[in-house]
Amino acid sequence: MTNDVSTPGDQAAEQNRREEQLIQRVLASFEATPNPRLRQLVQALTKHLHAFMREVRLTEHEWNGAIRFLSDAGHITDDKRQEFVLLSDVFGASMQMISMNNPLHGNATEATVLGPFFVNDAPEIRMGEDMSFGAAGEPCWITGSVFDVAGNPVPGARIEVWEADEDGFYDVQYRDDRTAARAHLIVPEDGEFRFWGLTPTPYPIPHDGPVGKLLELVERSPLRASHLHFLVEAPGYRTLITHIFVKGDELLTSDAVFGVQDSLIKEFTQHAAGSPTPDGRVLPDGATWSDVRFDIVLAPGESGGQRLTMS
Ligand code: BEZ
Ligand code: FE
Repeated sequence: MTNDVSTPGDQAAEQNRREEQLIQRVLASFEATPNPRLRQLVQALTKHLHAFMREVRLTEHEWNGAIRFLSDAGHITDDKRQEFVLLSDVFGASMQMISMNNPLHGNATEATVLGPFFVNDAPEIRMGEDMSFGAAGEPCWITGSVFDVAGNPVPGARIEVWEADEDGFYDVQYRDDRTAARAHLIVPEDGEFRFWGLTPTPYPIPHDGPVGKLLELVERSPLRASHLHFLVEAPGYRTLITHIFVKGDELLTSDAVFGVQDSLIKEFTQHAAGSPTPDGRVLPDGATWSDVRFDIVLAPGESGGQRLTMS
């Protein structure tokens, strides 16, 4: 090989040849990978990584910055905080994964991100009970049903629900070990459920780390549209991880993690203080309340699939 190239055009062609040759050598280095799927993954990653670097003509300064960013993400990650999933969330990669792995199935309810605040072993509530457990916020009467795509109820389905309080915090973000605004309930024979929760309010994703800094640099808001999380599991059905969003919320079009699906936007009806509640619950003087209905349709499939993801 020689560096003896005479014109700028020749030099550019030689540069291009060398860049492409390097990619071919890296691809060849993976060729003997025994697992065909792993081989496909590492070779495709090589192609896309090099294509990205060449497309933007990445500088060494930028590459070092990216490595520093990933190192910072690693340093802030522990068993409670997962900055890499947050990174995947704000790039829409989490939603892309969810949509590719939960393909539309008839009228089955659509999935969205799990988020970092799901906790196993939330307390059980019975039908009509309150999952807020004293968390601050406007009471919300939530009713709905769990059916299969053929319209049959799914008794025994386990519904997990969790949400932030009106100050924008989940219980696990307080330092006092409280359990509030989360619960699970078991769907009865007729498939219908009802419980008290809180009217969802907006809150930011954790933005005190490298991902927050990135959002700041690109002038994007860390706020999520107001939502209430659901995880629904039943044997023989695809585990559904989803939220409901509040119709009219101005953040619906700018959700920080691209989690909003039109089919998940629900009408939360507001009720004036003093108006009677569906179950005769007496609310404190001056307390307004809301109600919403969420009819859930489960796709057939394997339960448990997505549950391992912590973000
Ligand atoms: C959440 O909904 O709680 C959430 C989702 C993704 C990233 C951060 C928070
Ligand atoms: Fe959330």
